[in-house]
Order: sequence, then structure tokens, then C-alpha cells
Amino acid sequence: MFRIGMLTSGGDCQALNAAMRGVVKGLCEKRDDVEIYGFQEGYKGLIYSNFKMLTSSDFSGILTVGGTILGTSRQPFKLMRVPDENGLDKVEAMKHTYHKLNLNCLVVLGGNGTHKTANLLREEGLNVITLPKTIDNDLWGTDMTFGFQSAVDIAADTIDRIHTTATSHSRVFIIEVMGHKVGWVTLHAGIAGGADIILLPEIPYDTDVIAEAIKKRKDAGKRFTIIAVAEGAISKKDAKLSKKELKEKRAKHSYPSVAYELAERIQKKTDQEIRITVPGHTQRGGSPCPYDRVLATRLGAAASEMILDGDFGNMVGVKNNEIVRVPLSEIAGKLKYVDPDSSIIREAKMTGISFGDERNPGI
Ligand code: F6P
Repeated sequence: MFRIGMLTSGGDCQALNAAMRGVVKGLCEKRDDVEIYGFQEGYKGLIYSNFKMLTSSDFSGILTVGGTILGTSRQPFKLMRVPDENGLDKVEAMKHTYHKLNLNCLVVLGGNGTHKTANLLREEGLNVITLPKTIDNDLWGTDMTFGFQSAVDIAADTIDRIHTTATSHSRVFIIEVMGHKVGWVTLHAGIAGGADIILLPEIPYDTDVIAEAIKKRKDAGKRFTIIAVAEGAISKKDAKLSKKELKEKRAKHSYPSVAYELAERIQKKTDQEIRITVPGHTQRGGSPCPYDRVLATRLGAAASEMILDGDFGNMVGVKNNEIVRVPLSEIAGKLKYVDPDSSIIREAKMTGISFGDERNPGI
């Protein structure tokens, strides 16, 4: 028997099911003795030995289905070494479940936090392989994570819809896009949706520059301005504060999110009406886009090959459209940020998009 444990951990995204399907199909094409243990709700299932036995037929018909058939949960890495409310040592419990079930390998689908724990389990001697999931696309070691393109499609569609109502009114529209500490989704959705101003965590903004860009558009007869702001965007002033100072400052104002803070700042400097749209978790919902279905299927199949090779301790990723195996030790604890000096930013600026950092003659 070849026993595989599988779990999905952290925030869900599109194409998790497609990726698991790819793994299982790849394995079952090569072996007919595969046993699959599906752990429920991420690492929680591994800790508390909560799993269901699955067969290859459970993975049929799920290519296009959003969410995850295993369920997921956030189990912060920093709490992994902290015993639970009953004094249970979580790491020991996970190892115990793995050995009790006599698993050959644990397949983990997740983002940054998930990879830290996967690496910890590798260090503890388990055979672990991982697949890169997250709409944020912030995972080190891969050009692309599945979920990202689907989220970009949804965020861009939101901007498109705002565009039609924007053309009817003289308003500034702020669309807040997910992405945690990085700006990948906002950057791509912003360009795809024709946003006039794109604000990313990696490029702190100056409110005066934004106000000027809005005014310049108005003076040029453009009746509206569309701002795509990443949920982690930050002003130049705030970027200078320490973590503690920033926390204290934000606690004083208690804005629901960054878009509201930005709206207030801009309002003080312009005379235009401002509206806010926050698509939120819709960006993680629904069916994966075809790009993600293909990517997840490729990564899943490549992961099955890695398992059958016995090449554990790696994440399967994609670089320059080629599949790569990246050691978990290289990935854990690193984030992949948007490079402010990259050509995509330069090209976007060439088309007149303002990133709120410097006066842009084009806008
Ligand atoms: O990591 C994916 C993500 O959607 C981020 O973009 C966002 O900051 C976060 O998860 C939201 O987390 P939750 O689903 O726990 O509210």
C-alpha cells in the first residue's frame, strides 16, 4: 500500500480542488495501491487525527469547483509550539498521526504560514511535499501560485463594473483589493481594469501626489478617477513609523480598512465625491479561471511525480513556465514582493498610471 495524507491549510482559494485532483490522478495513473487520507480543516485534522479516507473517484468532477473538499483553517505557525487548551503538544500530535497511519508522505497545499509548518514537519523527519496556493502570489520560489489569476479576474471585473458607473458620475472611486502584505493582485487587476491610480504596499504613497493626480484628471475634463488600492497599502509618512507606533495610530482611528483611511485623506484635499468598493472574499470565491485550472493540474501532476520519485522536502513551483522543485528550507519564512523597480511598474507608469509616489506627467 502507498499511503498519502493530504491537507489544505490557510485561506482558501480557487483551484485547490483542481490541484488535489492533479496529484491523485497522477498517482493513480501509475499505481493501483494508493490510499488517500484527507485531513479535515488543514493542520487541525492532522493534529486531532480527523480525516476521511478518500478514493480517486472523490477527486472526479472537482476540477472547476471552488473552495476545498477537505475544508481549511488557519493554524498560526507561531502557535504550533504552544500546547493547545488541553496541554496537547501539536507538533508531537501531528507526528503521531502521521506515524500511526503509516503514511509514506504528507501532501500540503498552502501559502506562507502553511509552508513554515510544512518545513517544521520536514525538520521533524516527516516526508512532506507542498503545492503553492494563494490568491496573494507572495510565495517565494514560484513565479505563480494557483488562485492568483482567478482573483485578478474577479478584482479586474469589479473595476470594470465600477468604470461604467464612474463614467456617469463625477466621483473618485476607491476599490480595495486583497493581497495581504503584497500588491500582486492589485497591480495586475489595476492594470487590467484601467485604474488611474494604483497603490501598493511596496510603494508607499503620498496623499498630495494622489490629490494632484485626481485634480489633473479633472482639469483635463476627465470626470472620474479610479483608484485600486491594496489592502496593505501604506502612506510614506506611516511607512516611517515603527510597528508599535503604526498599531497605536491605527487603533486611534479604527477605520474599517485602508480604503476608508485613504478616502478621508483624499477628501480633505479634493472637492470630489468619493465612493468605496471592497470586493473582499469574493476574490477567493467561485470557480477557478482556466489559467488556474491548467496551472493547478500541472503542479498536481508534477507533485505526484515528485512523490513517486521519493523526492520529499520540496515545494513544486513554476519558473519561466517550467516546473521546478524548490527545497522547503529555502521557502519558509520568505515573502515574494512586487519589485518597485521592475519593468511592469515602469511600463504601467509609462501609460500614465500613478502609483502615488511621485508626480507623473502622464496622468
Ligand atoms: O491570504 C489570502 C487572503 O485572502 C489575503 O489576501 C487576506 O489578507 C486574507 O487572506 C484574509 O484572511 P481571512 O480569510 O482569514 O479573512
